[in-house]
Amino acid sequence: MENHKRPPATVLFIFGGSGDLNFRKLSPALYNLFIDNWMPEKFSIIGIGRTAYSDVEYRARLLEGIRQFSRRKDIADDQWQSFSKYVFYLKMDAEKDDQYTGITEMIQKKEAEYGEHPNIIFYMAVAPQLVPDIAKKLGRENISRDKTCTRIVIEKPFGHDLESAHDLNELLMSMFDEKQIYRIDHYLGKETVQNILALRFANALFEPLWNRNYIDHVQITAAETVGSEGRGAYYEGAGTLRDMVQNHILQLICMIAMEAPVSFDADEIRNKKVDVLNAIRRISKEEVGKYAVRGQYEGGWMEGEKVSAYRNEKNVDPKSNVDTFAAVKFYIDNWRWQHVPFYIRTGKRLHEKTTVINIMFRPAPNYAFPPEAAETWRPNRLTISIQPDMEIRLRFQSKRPGQFMTLNPVDMIFRYKDAYDGNEPEAYETLLLDVMEGNATLFMRRDQVEAAWKIIMPILDAWQNRPPVSFPNYAPGSWGPEDAEALIARDGHQWILM
Ligand code: BG6
Repeated sequence: MENHKRPPATVLFIFGGSGDLNFRKLSPALYNLFIDNWMPEKFSIIGIGRTAYSDVEYRARLLEGIRQFSRRKDIADDQWQSFSKYVFYLKMDAEKDDQYTGITEMIQKKEAEYGEHPNIIFYMAVAPQLVPDIAKKLGRENISRDKTCTRIVIEKPFGHDLESAHDLNELLMSMFDEKQIYRIDHYLGKETVQNILALRFANALFEPLWNRNYIDHVQITAAETVGSEGRGAYYEGAGTLRDMVQNHILQLICMIAMEAPVSFDADEIRNKKVDVLNAIRRISKEEVGKYAVRGQYEGGWMEGEKVSAYRNEKNVDPKSNVDTFAAVKFYIDNWRWQHVPFYIRTGKRLHEKTTVINIMFRPAPNYAFPPEAAETWRPNRLTISIQPDMEIRLRFQSKRPGQFMTLNPVDMIFRYKDAYDGNEPEAYETLLLDVMEGNATLFMRRDQVEAAWKIIMPILDAWQNRPPVSFPNYAPGSWGPEDAEALIARDGHQWILM
């Protein structure tokens, strides 16, 4: 792995340096990039936070996180020592104007040390409501003036609705150019998600069938077993539709539905995706009930453990109407996908942790087999398992061995763990490396974020105006409310995993 080009010298500031995202995701990712020789030759990681830490204490805290959450659990002492000397801590109150000089001084110091002007990256790993203010202050300090080397990374949720996302975009664009803004959707960094492009566009086999003539419908399930995980305060202002659908799920739909790009240029890929978002049919507020189902988990048992109802969780209103489950039927009104439903469902406290996409093909047009041969006959299906199983399986019909002609569905399976060494980079590794390299392909452009909000706004508005009558409406460990089964059953289908 020594022959790859490493990113240029970089100073990475992490606002929210003492927070959970850095602890669980960013630091482990940076450490793994270092071990795999992807970090720049000259770099510094500077955690910014209000808690007082010396550099030594801060490094020790990050080591705990890496031990717990890194895909590499065995941290060799010498490797940690080599990595940790690039890590520093800057205690500051990001809400105070006068404290930003600490950043400017640090940049000057690093510039002198490196003998060159490094990339300056500001990672916003803070609560979303703090982002506008920090961005404004960075702008005021004129820190962001170098348009090629300075970048800002914004975590989701990007805004709370269309209007706030638009305002945030306006604010950021008054200080940064679009090419300096990296809006993260961590699903796009997942290996299995990136592989959808390879599957579709590096093979001649699937693309000719990838349209309304051959595909009956598409199903996406993104299920989690966890509840609000101590994030009640955040979740109360979000709900599943904002937390998962506006971003991750719509991006998965884009990957499945986009047209073939003519190159892997960041804007080319993003243009193709935004075309999909723009073609998704707007659900009118009056029709939301026909297309979308919401749910909230009650208390109960999961795998022998008692779990609370959402409404009894910390920082949650006991009368909360926030959705912890959403299922939606989308249509994409374009030449390729007209009349092909895309059913999605996602939620917390569901039966298992899994993200899976099923492409359901139309039945074979005609078959000469006698009815008894075809009793177990099923249409073809392509299953793309995003996580935790990472695999692709294609179901087709086979003749069951024996003297009778009996048809039987069988699977052709590609498993990452069998084909590769099982050491895939985590999404955040890929995304952080891309930011350092200045490659925005896997990040959300302004128009994509706003187009995605436009799609879900009518559902959000309708749900807000019409409080749910049946919450809580699903048991922990189930697959969500019954209405979600009805949503798909009305069209003669049922939810499928694999
Ligand atoms: C995050 C959401 O964006 O994605 C979380 O805020 C959710 O609520 C998480 O749990 C799911 O990510 P993954 O990678 O575990 O599917």
